[in-house]
Amino acid sequence: SFGPNIFIDSQWAPFTAAIDSYLDKSWSATPIINGKAVNDYEVDGTAHQLDAQTVRAPWNHEVSAGDVKYANAQLARQAIDAAVAGQNEWQNVSAAKRAEILRKIAELYEENYAELMALCQVEAGKTLQDGIDEIKEAVDFCRFYADEAERLEATAYEFTDLSGKQARQVYKARGTFVCISPWNFPLAIYTGQIVAALAAGNTVVAKPAEQTSLIAHFAAQLMYQAGIPAAALQLVTGAGDVGGALTAADNIAGVIFTGSTQTAQRINQSLNDHAQASGELPVFIAETGGQNAMIVDSTALPEQVVRDAVLSAFGSAGQRCSACRILCVQEEMADDLIELLQGNMAELSVGNPLYAATDVGPVIDADAKQGLEAHIARMEAEPTATILAQTPMSSTSVVSQDQSTFVLPTAIEVKSIDVIGGEHFGPILHVLRYQARDLNKLIDAINATGFGLTLGIHSRIETTTENIERRAFVGNTYINRNQIGAVVNVQPFGGCGLSGTGPKAGGPHYVSRLMQLVSEPATD
Ligand code: NAD
Ligand code: ALA
Repeated sequence: SFGPNIFIDSQWAPFTAAIDSYLDKSWSATPIINGKAVNDYEVDGTAHQLDAQTVRAPWNHEVSAGDVKYANAQLARQAIDAAVAGQNEWQNVSAAKRAEILRKIAELYEENYAELMALCQVEAGKTLQDGIDEIKEAVDFCRFYADEAERLEATAYEFTDLSGKQARQVYKARGTFVCISPWNFPLAIYTGQIVAALAAGNTVVAKPAEQTSLIAHFAAQLMYQAGIPAAALQLVTGAGDVGGALTAADNIAGVIFTGSTQTAQRINQSLNDHAQASGELPVFIAETGGQNAMIVDSTALPEQVVRDAVLSAFGSAGQRCSACRILCVQEEMADDLIELLQGNMAELSVGNPLYAATDVGPVIDADAKQGLEAHIARMEAEPTATILAQTPMSSTSVVSQDQSTFVLPTAIEVKSIDVIGGEHFGPILHVLRYQARDLNKLIDAINATGFGLTLGIHSRIETTTENIERRAFVGNTYINRNQIGAVVNVQPFGGCGLSGTGPKAGGPHYVSRLMQLVSEPATD
């Protein structure tokens, strides 16, 4: 297991009881345009109702979390127009006031933790620990970007030419941003994108992942309650087609996207096509997938490696972009390490995320399950690959396999990285042996995947860790620890290559990227 579970302690009983009180609630989500929930749209003067779809818990499809109505392209356009119309008012709100509202959002998230936790569990299938981490990160984003709004308003670059003339550069808002987020951090990333853009004085049209619209709708209500003006934040629920309508719209200043590399490439193409037609050049920030490795040499501490690899690969059911996908082990210690890995995986508790002891919950939906199981089946049939371990469902939290979307945590030994074939976004860990003399070739092979998100290194030789760090092409490196859970304003997070465009979320260059530097004469 991932270690002692704090929830076994009776002092946590009030916390879990508060969450339990919301588990039977039925939530609903709609688009929100200019502060109003939208239930219909018009065609030739006639109103048509938006269809409502039932949201099912990934761990038990008999449990309904509520219903969601998705916007269409017409409503997406209305949301953009509303945000563009609200831009002038919001950019003229002082940074101090914007920061105060963002800090209030953090407070409201903390006050409403029990309902947010229940939503994370029922709609996204998160374990208790993952729900706590999710809310904490969302709160950290609000407070950090609030500080950034104030810091950047106070930042002016001063210039003096040879004749003594003075000028300066200051940060100003850019305009309306489209924020498109994934389901795997349905509160943290969704909130982080929105509050960063709002901190910069930009208005926002938010398009959360279709799988987690209920969380997004509830969080948007808390943002309005905190004081975000109705025009500054528009919510557009919907799937990829609606996201496509938003990124193809006129008058947007930029797109902040987190999700798969393929979707980022599609959005990039759409922005390019639009630029050809309109001449507009919106900013594009994409945080995308990873094919992350952990490199372990023979001086590493085996128990620590296995604990960190198991958490990095199977925590959050492997549904983190930062997750460890390839455990690269120096040949001399590989047999022992694999034995420890098998033992540790046998201890994992896989099942209902409402149970305090559960380590690994479900994957998000049937498509995800199908894709992951197809990869495992391909590896079973692959002559150069061997299944090392597969953790069964826990006998104490049995759910019907037909009525849920669990994928069993699986470790697979492979002979090369190529055979893996890209990112598999779930609880699958590949294990690769390497010879010490081939360490540089291994790093080159990892770089050759084109991804560059996280890298774990386990070694007690400083020159080895330095060599790996220098040669590897990644955004975030972690030494002798796990490689997930970057902390806001401690480990600014984001990759390079196929893993994203930067700048790093939760770091000092994020909000400034959403602003423009304006040169103007010095006023004094
Ligand atoms: P996804 O790309 O399928 O969807 C992400 C969002 O894009 C959703 O809101 C979706 O509706 C929208 N979308 C889909 N097609 C679109 C289109 N053509 N135009 C505009 N929007 C569109 O990704 P996902 O399955 O939700 O998330 C998992 C992926 O996200 C993984 O690849 C993971 O590595 C990545 N991820 C990256 C980070 C990071 O910080 N680098 C963080 C979390 C997740
Ligand atoms: N920021 C998240 C992590 O580091 C994706 O796991």
